[in-house]
Amino acid sequence: MTTTPHTDAPVLVLGATGKTGRRIVPRLRAAGHTVRAASRSGETRFDWTDRATWAPALSGARALYLVAPEDPEPVPDFVAQAKAAGVRRFVVLSGRGAEQAEGRSFLTGMLDSERIVRESGVDWTVIRPNNFAQNFSEDFFHTALLTGRLALPVGDTPEPFVDVEDIADVVVALLTEDGHTHRVYDLSGPRALTYAEAVAEIAAASGRPLRFEAITPEQFQAELTEQSVPAEVARELAHLFVFVSEGHLSPLATGVRDVLGREPRDFTEYVKTTAATNAWTATA
Ligand SMILES: NC(=O)c1ccc[n+]([C@@H]2O[C@H](COP(=O)([O-])OP(=O)(O)OC[C@H]3O[C@@H](n4cnc5c(N)ncnc54)[C@H](OP(=O)(O)O)[C@@H]3O)[C@@H](O)[C@H]2O)c1
Repeated sequence: MTTTPHTDAPVLVLGATGKTGRRIVPRLRAAGHTVRAASRSGETRFDWTDRATWAPALSGARALYLVAPEDPEPVPDFVAQAKAAGVRRFVVLSGRGAEQAEGRSFLTGMLDSERIVRESGVDWTVIRPNNFAQNFSEDFFHTALLTGRLALPVGDTPEPFVDVEDIADVVVALLTEDGHTHRVYDLSGPRALTYAEAVAEIAAASGRPLRFEAITPEQFQAELTEQSVPAEVARELAHLFVFVSEGHLSPLATGVRDVLGREPRDFTEYVKTTAATNAWTATA
């Protein structure tokens, strides 16, 4: 694989403070690339809802990591503006199963954003990761685990959670190496495990009595509503986990190996290193 020569032209990383972006930015800088780390609270201010922030973020950029907004409405204008500004390479974060979810309301934003970029005439690569291992320590599942109980309408369907450290390594390769143009990479971990097995591993490693409960979509929505989650968001999340429970995300994917030439990191390794940071014992 040849590597694009370093230039001073920056790589623009959107979602730079998020789970993927905040791991991509330091990797690119360590490799000697100039990076513009952008989000509403990032080093470079970028807001999908404030178009005045787009041009300064795009100015002179040669490549772009795109974390699309949930509603893809601004994406066509943004992609056209990026193309006009000279951005030639786009790496787009999508989600595993995006195509199987066609016609269902959730995930369609990601699929639409993929399509907008793919049809824009730029060089693009799409990544479609499984649910992140880090959801258990940095996102939605973490808050639940700190209460001792994670309850989801996923039954006992296994999923090969992908480690965000692997996603970051993949994105850096896609942004800086040649040979990945017009490819879609599905990214999974090396082993599918049920949510109950995942929580049992976290409980054992953290020494906490954590438990997983498989609940119905109706129970899930009711619990979220009790926590003041808007009804529409609760319904969308329930649909998403029902989709997961149907097994669309269960098969192993080869994307990490295809891009990096090595196996993805196992969930047990993620749990071990994350437990060592007291992520599941802190009273955050
Ligand atoms: N979690 C999973 O398991 C999973 C799996 C597959 C795909 N995905 C996809 O991953 C994406 C999220 O990526 P992530 O997990 O790396 O990020 P994240 O941790 O969810 O953080 C969101 C990022 O977007 C920025 N942001 C939010 N609103 C913004 C706005 N209006 N304008 C500009 N930036 C904004 C945030 O920074 P500021 O607050 O500073 O703006 C932050 O950097 C979603 O599209 C999700 O569907 C997630």
